[in-house]
Amino acid sequence: MAKEAQNQNQKTFTLTNDETGESIQLPVQDGTVGPSVIDVRKLYAQTGHFTFDPSFTATGSCKSRLTYIDGEEGILMHRGYTIEELAEHSSFLEVAYLLLYGDLPSSEQMTKFDHDITYHTMVHEQINYFYRGFRRDAHPMAIMCGIVGALAAFYHDSLDIHDPEQREISAHRLIAKIPTLAAMTYKYTIGQPFMYPRNDLNFSENFLYMCFGLPAEPYKVNPILANAMDKIMILHADHEQNASTSTVRLAGSSQANPFACISSGIASLWGPSHGGANQAVLEMLDEIGDKKNIPEFLEKAKDKDDPFLLMGFGHRVYKNFDPRAGVLKKACDEVLDDLGVHDPRLELAMELERIALEDPYFVDRKLFPNVDFYSGIILKAMGFPTSMFTVLFAVARTVGWISQWKEMVEEPTLRIGRPRQLYTGPAQRPYVPMNKRK
Ligand code: SDX
Repeated sequence: MAKEAQNQNQKTFTLTNDETGESIQLPVQDGTVGPSVIDVRKLYAQTGHFTFDPSFTATGSCKSRLTYIDGEEGILMHRGYTIEELAEHSSFLEVAYLLLYGDLPSSEQMTKFDHDITYHTMVHEQINYFYRGFRRDAHPMAIMCGIVGALAAFYHDSLDIHDPEQREISAHRLIAKIPTLAAMTYKYTIGQPFMYPRNDLNFSENFLYMCFGLPAEPYKVNPILANAMDKIMILHADHEQNASTSTVRLAGSSQANPFACISSGIASLWGPSHGGANQAVLEMLDEIGDKKNIPEFLEKAKDKDDPFLLMGFGHRVYKNFDPRAGVLKKACDEVLDDLGVHDPRLELAMELERIALEDPYFVDRKLFPNVDFYSGIILKAMGFPTSMFTVLFAVARTVGWISQWKEMVEEPTLRIGRPRQLYTGPAQRPYVPMNKRK
């Protein structure tokens, strides 16, 4: 039994053991906005019990000042600015500055940050040879997991996480080099030569250039595509304590170096329940193929004996529209219009969304399209193969991961993360020699 009480200035929850009648008071902490938390850190010491929350549906794992989500209302804010406003007015690098340092930059701060990032866009020449160890048909995310982790082998001068300057250089290196590595990964898998970064281009222009440029001919960046790419990057930059960010934080809590931590985030992002869903959405749309098949696939999604789920639908936090999906849908219309591309998958996706949002199964469970629902269609129109979609998510999310990592490492109370468990294995039993086992 638990009840909330007001104890002078400290709000508390009283927790009573119904068996013994003993009670303890647990402090309640308030954030700026959003639900308060019950501070259970002393629970085990006081009661001998742990909390049990395997998928973290009711657990706040840290304090953070970066990102706020109101899942009921469909609101996403970075450092207090709504995602709609940032996507409309900001650039990706400006959002990166905001996430890393806490405020929007002045024009001098922005010029310096732009220079600091641009200065680090090249990778050590030796890294080129790493790629040759991979098969050309490797999944790009497999290559990214390996190559990003391997950065620690090249930048020994920025691995001391206790040195603020080294932390900052590592953050700048990661934000600057991940697009270069992502583009190299793409080029490698299609057998084209790597393109060195061009520091006269902005972040998204340069990324498109490195992906689609060729040494044999000049490449003109399409400003509409660069703009859309920048918007996609902003929309994916950070998202509170999602699976990959929590992975980065847990890896970082052991004081592992930032390159290793970001590599762990990439690994976690790869799964189809998380960032891998953008690839899965396109594959699903191709499998559905035609509007007339939608009811059949919706039935499959609702069938608990069928592993099929509607990819790009549902979210742990949003019980309303994911605000990023709306912005992406609009950007998608613009890009397809501008390129004169007619992708029947867009119509199929819109029809799927319409029917699903009228279906009691999806309505009752508050399942709405998420960020991954429309992003694939726009990336496909830009010329990316589906296998690169999650890599693009990782390029953008690196900003969030490293900002969250930096925030955590800078906490004076940094402590290794170490969850406990509910043990359900055998109790102690005697060892039986092999010849006596049944
Ligand atoms: C991202 O967390 C973040 O912030 C992530 C992210 C970010 O920016 O970092 O926003 C990026 O990962 C977006 C999500 C991408 N994944 C997908 O689109 C995959 C499809 N979606 C689902 O697998 C699922 O909705 C999750 C993983 C997104 C959320 O899982 P939850 O919170 O554990 O929800 P759940 O599985 O408990 O679902 C609740 C109910 C269940 O039905 P019941 O058992 O209650 O009857 O809804 C059903 C689920 O079976 N359900 C779905 C469904 N999603 C949930 N049924 C059909 N199709 C779906 N997509």
